[in-house]
Amino acid sequence: MQKIFITGCTGYIGSHTCVELLEKGYEIVGLDNFSNSKPIVLDKIKEITGKEIKFYEGNMLDKKLLQKIFKENDISLVIDFAAYKAVGDSVQKPIEYYINNVSSVLTLISVMQEFKVKSLIFSSSATVYGTPEVVPITEEAKIGGTTNPYGTSKLYVEGILNDLSKADPEFKICIFRYFNPVGAHDSGLIGEEPNGIPANLMPFICKVALKELPCLNVFGNDYDTIDGTGVRDYIHIVDLAKAHVKGVEKLNSIDSGLLIYNLGTGRGYSVLEIIQTFEKVNNIKVPYKIVERRPGDIATCYADSSKAFKELNWQAHKNLEDMCRSAYNFNLNR
Ligand code: WQD
Repeated sequence: MQKIFITGCTGYIGSHTCVELLEKGYEIVGLDNFSNSKPIVLDKIKEITGKEIKFYEGNMLDKKLLQKIFKENDISLVIDFAAYKAVGDSVQKPIEYYINNVSSVLTLISVMQEFKVKSLIFSSSATVYGTPEVVPITEEAKIGGTTNPYGTSKLYVEGILNDLSKADPEFKICIFRYFNPVGAHDSGLIGEEPNGIPANLMPFICKVALKELPCLNVFGNDYDTIDGTGVRDYIHIVDLAKAHVKGVEKLNSIDSGLLIYNLGTGRGYSVLEIIQTFEKVNNIKVPYKIVERRPGDIATCYADSSKAFKELNWQAHKNLEDMCRSAYNFNLNR
């Protein structure tokens, strides 16, 4: 069966994608440096699927390690998740984000070329659209004008992949632009568990609900939105993971090309709507206070994912209540 190399395999999106691919019969070779995940995730993936990943600990910038992995394994396709991903954090540490999110991909691609592995799924982000002119956002929308180094790092890599695709038409590339992944696997064994204080909304809410943090800071309520708080397209992590199975099948079915898909639900929710839904489905209070806007944030962002439906036969099925319930359930089991 096809052997897939997954970078960031114990991370939030990586681990859920490993589960879906293993359950479809794919073999996985994984790499992670545990900068934003924990080794126990490997055991949880095995507990869920009954299968193991051939795992290497290390950093994507370590070319010799990548060459060792490609030498020891007959890899036919790569899914690259490994990246830092916190908007606010990236504004404070731009160079770390560019080294980790851009230089590492250049190292990966050079090793892929060396071993003639030419199928790549790249995890990009809706932040490449900057402040969208029109919502819902289609893949044809203008990209650029990014408002934070995280989004800019993803924009740079997309440009690199475009140049690569033109220079080497044998490459088959699928760029997935994620909106806001949230929630957890139904088993409650894997979920979003960032190291340290969470930067993203849902894991922060879960810690407040569990009284591990005192209160949620809502970053501004003076945006031009339904209630003044930020609106985003939240997508259940399992729906997102399943899209990657479709991405693998799509790349296996073409001879060359660069494909881009938005992965969202097509529906935007405000921060206050998330809090209300979370409190309702989990029957728990989430104390919050309105504070200043977070640098780098935009008002509204949600997807038009009809292209993924048409070309990948994929769409999100789980709703906001599933997302809030599964996120809390995972945190209760932590
Ligand atoms: C969501 C909303 C905040 C935290 C990020 C990155 C990237 C992407 C999705 C993959 C915003 C508000 C948040 C808090 C708050 N993933 N908020 N208090 O910034 O939309 O996107 O996640 O590419 O990681 O682009 O996600 O969860 O940080 O913020 O009020 O403590 O919640 O202002 O409106 P974001 P987020």
